[in-house]
Parts: sequence; structure tokens; C-alpha cells
Amino acid sequence: MEKCAIITGSSSGLGLEITKSLLFSGYTVFGGSRSGTELEHDNFYDVELDITSSESVEEFFETVREFTDQVHLVVNNAGICEMQSLSETSTENFELHLATNTLGPFLLFQGLESFLIKDETHIISILSTAAHYGYPNVAAYNASKFGQLGLIQSLKKEWKDYKVRFTNLFPGAIDTPLWDKVGSKFSRDKMLKTSDFMTVFNFIVHAPPTIQFPEMTFLHKDGFLE
Ligand SMILES: NC(=O)c1ccc[n+]([C@@H]2O[C@H](COP(=O)([O-])OP(=O)(O)OC[C@H]3O[C@@H](n4cnc5c(N)ncnc54)[C@H](OP(=O)(O)O)[C@@H]3O)[C@@H](O)[C@H]2O)c1
Repeated sequence: MEKCAIITGSSSGLGLEITKSLLFSGYTVFGGSRSGTELEHDNFYDVELDITSSESVEEFFETVREFTDQVHLVVNNAGICEMQSLSETSTENFELHLATNTLGPFLLFQGLESFLIKDETHIISILSTAAHYGYPNVAAYNASKFGQLGLIQSLKKEWKDYKVRFTNLFPGAIDTPLWDKVGSKFSRDKMLKTSDFMTVFNFIVHAPPTIQFPEMTFLHKDGFLE
């Protein structure tokens, strides 16, 4: 089998574009999502995954294990975002953000450990500028992405002896289907395009393995959304 990649959230937006790009580059891709995709390719395994459920994550890795026990590239991408003021945010909605954006990566990394290839695996996490900066009316998203960053920073030190590469991406707003559900009035013209994101992603993925990109922040040239 050629190089193997795992990606969460492969059914839409960035995850779908990344999946297509990795397949084009010759990777065998195991994509996880709840709704799946119509994408068909000999090297694509469209696996049902609810990242908030430990049982579902276990089943996802059992499926991967049927084909390989080595994963070269991991894209920690699945996520949700809604915009609401603090008083509008229900406890359930806050918990759902934490379950998807913080607990989800925790479960992913737990399942991943036995698939790591020493000195080789590259783990790319799609965080957000919202993992570094607080924005109004997205407390649940902000808290969940800050939490995810803390998880990764701890893990990076814990897994030091594996010598795997971690890349944390902090993109600003990108025009994807995520914004159909966010409930905001922001202009899509002031967002990065998915193709902009892919320029950065592909540069990092295809760079020589002797280089590491610990962090990268990038956003539309006009700055943050206001
Ligand atoms: N778009 C932006 O402006 C932007 C900016 C910075 C960072 N990001 C981050 O980029 C990542 C991808 O966002 P996107 O813009 O591509 O959004 P999107 O088009 O809404 O895609 C989100 C993906 O996450 C998956 N997902 C959500 N909940 C899931 C769950 N419980 N289990 C498994 N998969 C789940 C969805 O699949 P199913 O619904 O099929 O499960 C979907 O494939 C997110 O982490 C987001 O926070 C986005």
C-alpha cells in the first residue's frame, strides 16, 4: 500500500478538498464523517465517523486496521462553529462544540497512537485564528479551539520520542459550507477561498520531510472579519 492518510471531516468544505488533493497525490485516504461523500476513488475509504463518540472512533480505527497499521499523514479537521451571544448559547450547544472540537481530537489522538510511524508521521490540525484570539459571539467555538490547542501542545511533548511532526494551522475565515450554518452576516468576499487554503496546505504537505512547520497563521489580506 502507498502512503496512508487519515482525515476527519472529509464530507464537506476543507476536508473534502484535502481528500481530493491527497488522492491526486497518490495517498490512500481514510476519510471519516457522519454524512459521507459521493466521492469515488479506488484509494478512498469513506468511513462512518462521529468524532464525539468513543465507540465510533474505535470502529473507525478498526476499519483502518483492516488495511494498514501505519499512518503517514493525519489531518485533524472535523469541526463545528456557530455564532451566538453568550446569553443565546445553550448549555447543549456549548457542550456540542467541546465534544466536537476538543473531545473529538482527544479521541482521534488516542486511537491514532498505535498507527504512528516513528520519525515519519505528520499530524496536521486545522485549528483557527479563534484558537489564539477571542472574538465576540463565538464563546463556545473559541473555548473549544483554545482547548484543542492545549491538548495538542501537551501531546506534542508527551509524544516527543516518536519524533512525529505536528503542524498547527490557524487560518482566518474561509468561504466554505461552514458559513451556511454559522448564522453571520460577514461578506464572503473578505474570506479566503478554499483554493487559497489548499495552496498553503499543499505547500506544507509536499515540503521535504526534513522541514517542520510547527504553526502557521494566514488570513485574507484585508484582515480579520469585523
Ligand atoms: N471555514 C472557515 O472559515 C474556517 C476557518 C478556520 C478554521 N476552520 C476549521 O476548519 C475545519 C473544517 O471546516 P470547514 O470550513 O471545512 O467546515 P464544513 O464545510 O462545515 O465541514 C465540517 C466537516 O466536519 C465534519 N464534522 C462535524 N461534526 C462532526 C462529527 N461529530 N463527527 C465527524 N465529523 C464531523 C463534517 O462532517 P459531517 O457533518 O458529515 O459529520 C464536515 O465534513 C473545522 O475544524 C473548522 O473549525 C474553518
